[in-house]
Amino acid sequence: MLTVNGSFPGPVIRVRKGDTIYINIHNQGSYGVTIHWHGVKNPRNPWSDGPEYITQCPIPPGTNFTQEVIFTTEEGTLWWHAHSDWTRATVHGAIVVLPAHGTTYPFPQPDAEEIIVLASWYKHDVMELMRETLSRGGTANLSDAFTINGQPGDLYPCSKETTYRLMVDYGKTYLLRIVNAAQNQDFFFMIAEHNVTVVGGDASYFKPLATPYIMITPGQTMDVLVTADQPLGEYYIVATPYFDGGADDYDHSTATAIFEYRGNYTHPSTPSFPYHIPAYNDTVVASLFTSQIRSLASPEHPVDVPLDVTTRMYLVVTMNLLPCPNDSCAGPDGYRIAAGLNNKTFENPGVDILRAYYWNMSGFYDPNFPDQPLHYFNFTSDDLLSNNVTISDPGTRVKVLNYNDTVEIVFQGTNVMNSAENHPIHLHGYKFYVVGRGQGIFNNETDPKNYNLYDPPELNTIPIPKDGWATIRFKASNPGVWFMHCHFDRHMSWGMETAFIVKSGGTPETSMKGPPAYMPPCDLESFLGSKDSMLLKRG
Ligand code: C2O
Ligand code: CU
Repeated sequence: MLTVNGSFPGPVIRVRKGDTIYINIHNQGSYGVTIHWHGVKNPRNPWSDGPEYITQCPIPPGTNFTQEVIFTTEEGTLWWHAHSDWTRATVHGAIVVLPAHGTTYPFPQPDAEEIIVLASWYKHDVMELMRETLSRGGTANLSDAFTINGQPGDLYPCSKETTYRLMVDYGKTYLLRIVNAAQNQDFFFMIAEHNVTVVGGDASYFKPLATPYIMITPGQTMDVLVTADQPLGEYYIVATPYFDGGADDYDHSTATAIFEYRGNYTHPSTPSFPYHIPAYNDTVVASLFTSQIRSLASPEHPVDVPLDVTTRMYLVVTMNLLPCPNDSCAGPDGYRIAAGLNNKTFENPGVDILRAYYWNMSGFYDPNFPDQPLHYFNFTSDDLLSNNVTISDPGTRVKVLNYNDTVEIVFQGTNVMNSAENHPIHLHGYKFYVVGRGQGIFNNETDPKNYNLYDPPELNTIPIPKDGWATIRFKASNPGVWFMHCHFDRHMSWGMETAFIVKSGGTPETSMKGPPAYMPPCDLESFLGSKDSMLLKRG
């Protein structure tokens, strides 16, 4: 497996709010990789954002690349991960953003903090799994296990001695910084016989929410407090799949760790297990949790929800099909499985969009990503199986925004190909407010009346409920090229994404920075010749 500095999960990065850090990535692996700073807005600096073919080409083996990561308003927990092929499976780690000097948490100082990274485990090389999955064109291989801080736990036929143990003292309160780094899996996370209080997520603070469980999607982080107030003992910490899709297409296993009290007592032969685990497919319970999250909306942590929307988008989230030569693919009827937004399946260009945009290189992307679906139909009905709704339109299409446009996006979940499920959509370069979510088809007259413009959560990743919708708002005040995609890697590889080009605002402070002295080369570019030397000259 590919790792960073030999560890899984990778090293923790600790910063304070407002810091700028420089990271030099040395690629000692055998294929190209990139690193993304998930949830860091990195204002005006898409050059260091990291998604392959969006803001850079992969770092070739044997070379290095320095990224400048600028923290501004983020405070809490974020993470970094590979953003090339499926290497994120093993290349990821937490980022802790502490409050600035002289400020503190908006909740009582915890006695200690722990990082909890949830991930997928494959017995095989993920790069081979990816190549095989994408060349067959069928469903993706499932993971073999899930892990909590690198360990699958006692429910797998593995060594139990290494199960992760969180050692606690009776009466103390712990801040758990939870990251879902899994490839394709939402989780219910809970600790037997202990409630947790969610106080933040995606490096924003929330109104405290006491709950027996959380639902966390890939890409999300959640900061929760837990007080060790139960009888001295050992209690399982559980990360178990939340999967509400129709096909039985997920890894059914459950990762565990142990919440263990220090002290003198007879240790049980097995720790207590949570008795109220939601059913794996309980959309209602999962949605209820997500919809209870609120911003702090306090004088120290105010909200600033855009009220006058200048750009409206309605994005229909679908699984799709693409034709395959001789109907020889492993998807339905020999087609290739794909996915899309507004029936457009995103294809990576040969040169990253940022470079093509900055140097006006034509032919690498089209600025014609549609604001609405071309066809409206009953998006959530059963048996949407005919070719006129399943076949998508591949291409590299982006949406261009003017500086400071106020954008509202309604994401509409669909049941095309009977494949409705929750999708965690992530936007780079921004945090957005989640002003509404609901079941069924979005009604543009009645649903906006119930928007929460008072204390909506400010996030970078949002679960779009199965057969439901969610609305986000943000102000396009960060010029650059910013990716937006489903954070299930298989859906991303199948094309469930687009990118925004946010134009500069006309002054130096509102304009994208220039490129650094060195960016990793694109193969096609060396083929074309001149652009790399242009890049070096400008740098
Ligand atoms: Cu967590 Cu596009 O990334
Ligand atoms: Cu998805």
